[in-house]
Amino acid sequence: MGIRRYSWKFKFRRGGKTLEGFAVRLKGKTYAYLNQCRHMTLPLDWGDEDFLTDDKKFILCKNHGALYDPKSGLCVAGPCAGESLEKIEFDVRKG
Ligand code: FES
Repeated sequence: MGIRRYSWKFKFRRGGKTLEGFAVRLKGKTYAYLNQCRHMTLPLDWGDEDFLTDDKKFILCKNHGALYDPKSGLCVAGPCAGESLEKIEFDVRKG
């Protein structure tokens, strides 16, 4: 039996730069954001592609504990409360 992944990282190009995004999949829906916390210019994960709290209710920035709503990207608790992650629009192809 495999381990179910709820989040993963990916690279994308914008404005001539390669940037890192991450996606979370919850209840059959996928949400994608730039992997950059709104508190400081740091990625949210520690390289482990684990972006969710244990209960899978929030996206967690592991640096200082900011919590973001997975659906909207809004920071609901922590040093950047009220700000939002940058959403990445995407298409799903071949599943
Ligand atoms: S860098 Fe994300 S909460 Fe501080």
